[in-house]
Amino acid sequence: MTQVRLKKHSAPLSGTLSFPGDKSLSHRAIIFGSLSEGISSFKNVLSGEDCVCTREAFEAMGVDIKSSSDGTEVVIIGKGLHGLKEPKKELYLGNSGTSMRILSGVLAGQPFKTTLTGDPSLSSRPMKRVTSYLRQMGAVIEGRDDGNFAPLTIKGGKLKPIDVSLAVSSAQVKSAILLAGLYANGTTSVTEPVLSRDHTELFLRYFGANIKQEGLKVSIAGGQTLNAKSFEIPGDISSAAFFMAIAILLKDSAIKFQNILFNETRIGIVKVLERMGAPLMSAGHDKLGRPEMMADFSLMTQKLRGTEVMREELPSLIDEIPILCVLATQAQGKTVIHDADELRVKETDRIDSMITALSLMGAKIKSEKNTILIEGPTPLKGAVVDSRKDHRTAMSLIVAGLIAEGEQTVKDVDCINTSFPTFFKLLDQLKISYQL
Ligand code: S3P
Repeated sequence: MTQVRLKKHSAPLSGTLSFPGDKSLSHRAIIFGSLSEGISSFKNVLSGEDCVCTREAFEAMGVDIKSSSDGTEVVIIGKGLHGLKEPKKELYLGNSGTSMRILSGVLAGQPFKTTLTGDPSLSSRPMKRVTSYLRQMGAVIEGRDDGNFAPLTIKGGKLKPIDVSLAVSSAQVKSAILLAGLYANGTTSVTEPVLSRDHTELFLRYFGANIKQEGLKVSIAGGQTLNAKSFEIPGDISSAAFFMAIAILLKDSAIKFQNILFNETRIGIVKVLERMGAPLMSAGHDKLGRPEMMADFSLMTQKLRGTEVMREELPSLIDEIPILCVLATQAQGKTVIHDADELRVKETDRIDSMITALSLMGAKIKSEKNTILIEGPTPLKGAVVDSRKDHRTAMSLIVAGLIAEGEQTVKDVDCINTSFPTFFKLLDQLKISYQL
């Protein structure tokens, strides 16, 4: 297990950074390319372990996928919605909740039986939130604790449409139901309490399906086909967020960010940073030839003030809460992140992982039930902290180490490869030192 040691960075930082393709979009590109009629090709696909799992799953179901040696350029010969084959063995999905939940929706519509497995973290993440709806549609699903935990065995087939309201907004659950809806004999609808990331809806339209959006309700009729598309995937804003924090927190910094995904349902962090006193300097955005908006912007060192993040805002920055906790330790006053319950069931319990590690570093951070309270600014001191094999906890604690007095050791950083294989390369590009 690799650990990283680092110290406070004090030289000025500048440069222009580009990021691997957005993780959510890369999963969906592989899924949609595989289920389309025709040949799709994508550039800047994330080659992190999570997306490799999705890719290998479709290959195991007979899809021909070719890629460049670094895995970022991908050509997929689509099989159409009804061309997948029964895999010869179970599909291992590593650490990837997105793969397991969205694939469950696709498999619910297949006339064969598949077993999905994952690593210990994925095997302990709740799946009933997906399997309960897919069962209502007619799929036969087995799993530990009545289908709540992997391994999941899914026997799909002809599905019935459903019209459901989710208790918790979740793009993974919504996506699974919508994709299963393509295999249903009628119209399937999902309503969310707050709109979660809408990439699946945008991809469905872009790949030629008809969907209807009425407020928070999205509906899709079964029996449609998807048509192949080709485009470049914008950089992952959830990965860029760690370097946005570096630009803001490290003194004398001015960093440019290039080709970043700028979808309204994903830019909660941008809005929160603006409230905290760190607005982006935008250099424009466009959508040309892509289902999604892409932007260039810059950020520089700023003094921050505390802010309040309400429940309704959370889906738009759900993956950025760990790095927001680090930013908040340096903000003047109180930061309150309300009702972050969903963080308890990510790759690890991120409320607990961040409070434990940042408290060891001297931060004033606690939780009341699932609300996170942080008081700043507090000088941080280096410590030996544990990522708990969670990529976003690991990267957040590395950024915290760069502003801490003394040496910081972050344990178990291999997990960073799941979503951000070039993370250390970008630290090198900024001439930030660390020891692996
Ligand atoms: C994702 C949705 C989010 C997010 C995850 C990726 C997606 O999860 O945390 O990293 O690609 O649909 P939930 O839908 O469970 O909130």
